[in-house]
Order: sequence, then structure tokens, then C-alpha cells
Amino acid sequence: MSTRLAALRQRFDDVGIDALVVTAAPNVCYLTGFTGSSGTVVVTAERAALITDSRYTERAESELDAAGAAADVDVVITRAINDALSELVDPAAVVGLEADHVSWAELDRFRDVVGEVRPTYGFVEAQRERKDADELGRIARAASIADGALATCRDALSAEPTERELAHALDDAMRHGGADRPGFDTIVASGPNAARPHHDPGDRRIRRGDLVVVDMGAEVEGYRSDMTRTFVIGPPTPRQVELLDAVRRAQAAGLATAGPDVPAAAVDRACRDHLASVGLGDSFTHGTGHGVGLVIHEGPAVNAKSTATLAPGHVITIEPGVYLRDFGGVRWEDTVAITDDGAEPLTRSPKEPIVG
Ligand code: GLY
Ligand code: MN
Ligand code: MN
Repeated sequence: MSTRLAALRQRFDDVGIDALVVTAAPNVCYLTGFTGSSGTVVVTAERAALITDSRYTERAESELDAAGAAADVDVVITRAINDALSELVDPAAVVGLEADHVSWAELDRFRDVVGEVRPTYGFVEAQRERKDADELGRIARAASIADGALATCRDALSAEPTERELAHALDDAMRHGGADRPGFDTIVASGPNAARPHHDPGDRRIRRGDLVVVDMGAEVEGYRSDMTRTFVIGPPTPRQVELLDAVRRAQAAGLATAGPDVPAAAVDRACRDHLASVGLGDSFTHGTGHGVGLVIHEGPAVNAKSTATLAPGHVITIEPGVYLRDFGGVRWEDTVAITDDGAEPLTRSPKEPIVG
């Protein structure tokens, strides 16, 4: 944690601030280890403090201790954030706020006590993009728990459960396997519902012949995994085989392209070019992927407009899909770590679509 704070302070000059007030919960967690619902971190050149309230006195101490932050971050227990701020921050300081996370009311309150406030955009988020060994370990565990849960539940598809029943079974299996919770709302989209990339599982019963898109991930110690597999129950039709193969090849092309010093947009292009070459370009209606970490969708973006260059420590998804209204859809998604010499999938469930 002291490394994270030092790296953050080093970047203060880039955006012209003397101190930073961090209010977004994932950023608070990243800098201190604290996971309570109310926490504000103040980082100045000399000090860092977590301001929280008396519900969290003991939890703040133990979480900071477990994260190795106790020596670098003071805990201030108060509901009067402004009083704490005026003690921590020099009245002449330029104080950065997280523009994407501060409400208008909070901004008014901060203005009352601070000489000058300045918006910052994605300041802590930018630092979160490259994961250290500890973060990579947590994401890898979240990935392997999702793999285990899918292996446990896969055969249940033949019993033709409803989408909701399968989603609940997957969530239970992830918790059983050691997840703190699912990393996001599990998607089970069957038949025509599979044409919706982010379908909410409902009471539709999964039937033989359906394409079934299962998008799931676990959360372990704050970090998430993200994986999609597509199934078909019983023998697939030739059109289903075509779609399953086309998206699988597109995903393989994306994975083969990913690596250090590669523009994220090139990974998107590799997937998109393959689907376009087989006439499915217009059916791939979303970006190829996103960073994964404390938040399920974070930087770097992996899409046509991304300006990011991939680097070791980035953890991204590669998830091309095709969606055909009233017919269904196919998506293959892996969580992938960028390494010194390539890209390593952390989710490893087999891509064997045929069940039963
Ligand atoms: N699970 C949401 C996504 O794949 O982006
Ligand atoms: Mn997903
Ligand atoms: Mn994803």
C-alpha cells in the first residue's frame, strides 16, 4: 500500500494538485484495504488518512492492518468530514476531487473548507489498471472458482432448468467454491433471449436445441473474474455450429493478438475482422472487452476507440459475440492477463458447447 500511495503522490504534479480526496469505494479499497460503505481517503504530500464513522472503527483497523496499510494511513473516526478535512489539508492547498464520483452536494461541502478544488478524472483508476502480483493472484482465484462452478453445474443443463434456476445454481456453486459473492449478476440467456448480450435470467425454461449463453464470474477479496461460455443442448443445427465456430475463431484471433505493447484497439480489430470475414460483422454489436479488477468493468477499454496500449499487469476480457434477433446468440469470453511476453487466459473452462 505504501507503494500505491507513493506512486499516487508522484502523479500529483501532473494534474496540479497538492492533495487528493478519494471518495469512490473501489479506490478507497485500493489505497487502504477498507471495504466499508462509508470511507473517504485524504492523501497529502506527507499524510494519508481514512475518514470513516464509528460503525467501522474496528473493521477499519483490522482491514488496514490486513492490507499492510496501517503504518501509512491514519484512521479518523468522525461524521464531520469537513472538520477532519480542514485539519488534514493546508487551507492554501489545491485539492483534487474525483469528478466522476462526487455529488453536487458534496462538492459544495468540500468548497466550504478547501481553498481550491480541482476535478480529477480517472486518477486512481488509471493506476489500478496494472495489477500487482497480489491482485493477479486474487483475480486468478476468482477465475478458477468460476471454472469449478461451471464444471459442477454444466450437466444440469440437460435437465432443462429455467434460466433463473441455473443462475442460482451457479451462484451457489461459486460461493461453495470459496467466492465471497458473484462478481456481477450472472447471465443465463437461452433461446431467443441469447440475442440480448445482457439478459436478466428469467423463468424461461431452457430447452433442447436452444443456444444458452452463460456469463459468470466470482469475487474473491474484492477482485473479480468474467467468463462466458455458450452451450447447446443436444445436437446443434448447422447454423448454430457456424456461429459457435465463427465466434470461437474470432476470440482466438483476439487472444493471439493480445500482448505487451499491442494497442487494445488491435485486439478488437482482430476479433471484428474475423467476424466480418464470415459475414457476421454487423452482428457483433459491442466492444471486445474491458479491464477487470476491483470493478467488473474498468480500464483499459478493449474496443475500436481505445487509445490504451496493453502492458504486463493489465487484466482484460476478450469477449466477441454475435446476436441475431429472434434466433439467439453466441459469446465466448475469457479473463486474460497480459504478461511480459504474451497473454495468459485466467478463465480456463473448456469451450465445448454440446451438452447432453
Ligand atoms: N459480465 C459482463 C460482461 O461480460 O461484460
Ligand atoms: Mn461477462
Ligand atoms: Mn465482460
